[in-house]
This record gives sequence, structure tokens and C-alpha cells, in this order.
Amino acid sequence: MRRTRSELSRRTVLASVASLAGIAGLGFSPARAAGPVLTRPIPTSGETVPAVGMGTWITFNVGENTALRDERVEVLKTFFDLGGTMVDSSPMYGSAEAVIGYCLERVPDPQRLFSATKVWNWRQGAGRAQMADSRRLWGVERFDLMQIHNLLGWEGHMETLKADKAAGRVRHIGITTSHGRRHGDFAAIMETQPLDFVQFTYNILDREAERRLLPLAAERGLAVIINRPFRRGELFDRFERHPLPAWAAEFDCANWAQFFLKFVIAHPAVTCVIPATSRVDHMRENMGALHGRLPDQAIRQRMVAYVEGL
Ligand SMILES: NC(=O)c1ccc[n+]([C@@H]2O[C@H](COP(=O)([O-])OP(=O)(O)OC[C@H]3O[C@@H](n4cnc5c(N)ncnc54)[C@H](OP(=O)(O)O)[C@@H]3O)[C@@H](O)[C@H]2O)c1
Repeated sequence: MRRTRSELSRRTVLASVASLAGIAGLGFSPARAAGPVLTRPIPTSGETVPAVGMGTWITFNVGENTALRDERVEVLKTFFDLGGTMVDSSPMYGSAEAVIGYCLERVPDPQRLFSATKVWNWRQGAGRAQMADSRRLWGVERFDLMQIHNLLGWEGHMETLKADKAAGRVRHIGITTSHGRRHGDFAAIMETQPLDFVQFTYNILDREAERRLLPLAAERGLAVIINRPFRRGELFDRFERHPLPAWAAEFDCANWAQFFLKFVIAHPAVTCVIPATSRVDHMRENMGALHGRLPDQAIRQRMVAYVEGL
């Protein structure tokens, strides 16, 4: 298995160092390039994760094509080099989990990984088999985070995940949704189940989560992963041809990607955002959001007004 006990211990030590930095009020952990990166604590475990992770829907679903797989190796390598740890996937994403496994075998530092995937099946028994398959595809002994994808068959999977966590077969558990779907059901589960993480959509145009899910996550002490921060790329199509406002420099924002990502991670309830990309240059832009100042609440409102006025 790829993740040996000593690798896990090393990661725990690194996490402790990072969390000590957080306790000291720094909230940063070391990266190999460009200095320390912004990290956030997972409230239930105290471990920290960098505030930008990586999604894999579509971008890592490249099948058996070796040239495309090798391009994704470079994307993942760049992600780790720039301080990233959390990779999010799902059995719903075609070949993405197999491609992640291929990439992890080829990056020099795979123990940086915080592995997050999902169970996506109506039936509890089939869900167990699916999670075992995901471990095999990624090449990990256990996942750092297992999420119930879009609440599919959630009652049965919740039983499995609670037992798995108690037995140490998974480290954190959570639920996901996207596109603003089923927020009522989602909130009810947040209120009653012993979750570590929740994942949902939030971006500068889709702000429904501000009403209930983000405040509830803060109240319940849950880590929050944000998906679709670029609205699946649509934000670039709509706004990229316009100039960034000059005041974006006030929060160290060099491009539109950082504008969109810093908007998300500056929300106090957000732990981590998971943009997806197939490109190394885009990965570099995205990971730049882990550096420099963040916008405060007044500036975030100005950011919304600016894009809505374009
Ligand atoms: N229900 C769920 O659990 C759920 C639902 C949706 C998403 N998710 C997770 O969240 C992740 C992110 O959401 P998403 O993939 O839907 O969309 P997204 O991250 O909002 O957007 C991805 C798109 O943005 C483009 N992009 C990325 N960085 C860029 C940059 N710097 N400049 C210009 N374009 C850039 C990518 O194209 P390039 O490849 O050209 O960079 C890609 O087309 C998913 O991959 C998945 O892991 C989970």
C-alpha cells in the first residue's frame, strides 16, 4: 500500500506543526515555493488543510490515454509543489479515481495527499463495495474524508461511515450537494448527524449558501468544502474580458481566478475551496490564492457589486 504507517505519522507531525502555527495566530504552513500557504483548521480534528484544494470532475476523467494522464501528473505535481493537499473525487467522475491513482504513483511526494472521495450509490451494501474499489483505485489504505455524494442513499451510508470512522477505517466523514440543490434536507442532516465536513456550491454569483448552510456549518463546528467556485468555468467566460478592478491589488489579487477564489475563502465559515483544472498554468494561478491578504466583508460586497455591474 502506498500510505505506510511512517508516512501517516510524518503527515500527522506536519499537520501538528501547521496547527501550532494556527494556534499562534499565523494560520500558515510551509510550501516548497512562494512561502507559507493559508491553512484552515478542521474543527472536529484540529488538523489543518490548505484553503485551496483540487477538484477532479471532468478534468481528471481522461480514461486510458497516457499522454493526457501524464499531463494530469504534472497538474498534481504542481498542486503539491505549491502546498496543496486536498484532492476531491467521486466514483461518479468516470475514470477520475483511476487517473488519480496513476498520478499518485508518479508524483515524488504523494504523502502530502489529503484524500477525499465519495460514495455514490443508492444501496448500502453496494456503497461498501464501491468505497473498497475507490481505495484500490487511489492506492490508499483509508481515506482522509469519505462523503455521501448528493445525499444519495444517505441513511444507509451514514451508518456505514459512522462505523468506519469508529473503527479507524476512515478519518473524517461528510455529505455533499451542489447547484443549490436540497439545501433543506442538507441542513436537517447537518443538524442531526455527527459530521466532520460538508461540501456545497458557493461562488461570487451563486450565494444561496450564505443564507443557511454557511452559518449553520459555523454554528455546528463543521469544516466546509466549496465546490464549483468558477461555476464550472462560466465565470471566466462572462468576466475574463473585463479588467480586474485596480483595488483588487489591495488584497493581493493578480488575476480573475484569484479574485473568484479569494472571494470564497475569505468567508469566515469556509475551510477549503476545490477548483478543478486540467492545466498547470491554471493550477499556478489558482494556488496563488493561498498567498497575501484576503478581502474583508466590505470589500467582498464591493466585489459582488463589481461583477454584477459588468
Ligand atoms: N455534488 C458534488 O459533490 C460536487 C458537485 C460539483 C463539483 N464537485 C467537486 O468540485 C470540483 C470543482 O467544481 P467544478 O469542477 O464543477 O467546477 P469549477 O472548479 O468551478 O470550474 C472548473 C473549470 O474552470 C476552469 N479553470 C480552472 N482554473 C482556471 C483558471 N485559473 N483560469 C481559467 N479557467 C480555469 C477549468 O478549465 P481548465 O481545465 O481549462 O483549467 C474547468 O473548466 C469538482 O471538480 C468536484 O471535485 C462536487
